[in-house]
Amino acid sequence: MTDSIRWGILATGGIAASFTKDLRHAPDAEVVAVGSRTEESARVFAEAHGIPRAHGSWAELAADPDVDIVYIANTHNAHFAAAETCLKAGKAVLCEKPLTLNRAQAQGLVDLAGERGLFFMEAMWMRTIPAILKLNELVAEGAIGPVRSVRADFSLGGPFEPEHRLRDPELAGGGLLDLGVYPVSFAHMILGAPDTIAVSGWKTPEGVDAMAGMVLGYERAVAVLSCGIEASSATVASVGGPLGHIEVPNPFFRPGSLRLTRGGEVEEIEVPYLGGGMVHEAIEAMRCLRAGLTQSPLIPWQSTLEVMGILDEARRQLGVVYAGE
Ligand SMILES: NC(=O)c1ccc[n+]([C@@H]2O[C@H](COP(=O)([O-])OP(=O)(O)OC[C@H]3O[C@@H](n4cnc5c(N)ncnc54)[C@H](OP(=O)(O)O)[C@@H]3O)[C@@H](O)[C@H]2O)c1
Repeated sequence: MTDSIRWGILATGGIAASFTKDLRHAPDAEVVAVGSRTEESARVFAEAHGIPRAHGSWAELAADPDVDIVYIANTHNAHFAAAETCLKAGKAVLCEKPLTLNRAQAQGLVDLAGERGLFFMEAMWMRTIPAILKLNELVAEGAIGPVRSVRADFSLGGPFEPEHRLRDPELAGGGLLDLGVYPVSFAHMILGAPDTIAVSGWKTPEGVDAMAGMVLGYERAVAVLSCGIEASSATVASVGGPLGHIEVPNPFFRPGSLRLTRGGEVEEIEVPYLGGGMVHEAIEAMRCLRAGLTQSPLIPWQSTLEVMGILDEARRQLGVVYAGE
């Protein structure tokens, strides 16, 4: 490994572009290659972002000896295959959320990374945002007492055309995997794995989940969450205990501040993020790589697996099944 960490970008869509631009805020990151399903798309992306090498397949990108870590940003139906290709080629991987379609696939990748001693992380950037780290710190030091309640919502109003990725069962559309992963990961970050999961909602005519309300039950806490693709949401979150509560403003997955209310007093706590916020997950991945870690303590494998398990159960209750499952 050279002084800078050399990134390969796998896929050429919207979030691949956002992440690549955000890496400019990490001086020790270098984007050396991009890989796509087609050479043409890789070439166009490479030209647009000033990337030296363009590969026309995932395997070629994975075999590029100058790449230290691959950021996977294709549609989530293909995360498993792309991540497997990279891990089998010996590459460290940062893979977009949701990590895979289901917990079983996620377990397969975690096992592969574990066997090979490779760094592997779900790109759940929310958990690396400075204000979210501050939230965890406040909760851990007892600022609001033991957490008894968590709320979080993330849905989009659209309307999305039937052929949109979010409504396409072939691309594992629906609100749960794309958007619901944030409120579920938020609740899991604060409270861990629930004892009970109750879900209400409905499906689109294509058979993916349209809207879902979830109640996660714990011994002495409850998380009330919602997500979907048919209603605009405030996209805020809150965490409450006997001594007070903390509000996380819109969008709660990338806040720049927190509002702590206790004893009748309200405190605004500003905690800015760099760039568009995605760079923080890259900084964390590079910190872990340099430290020789295989997983990030901010997004441990067990947490990703348990979040995927909650999403599996929510889909089971709504009757959403993807091709090949
Ligand atoms: N972190 C965030 O804030 C955030 C935001 C939005 C999305 N995401 C996640 O990022 C992923 C991509 O989302 P996006 O909004 O960037 O989607 P997008 O703009 O539709 O791009 C996805 C890319 O995936 C590849 N692709 C498309 N169809 C595919 C298929 N059937 N099989 C394999 N690859 C396919 C294409 O790249 P090539 O043609 O180059 O192969 C395409 O450009 C999703 O998993 C999503 O959940 C994360």
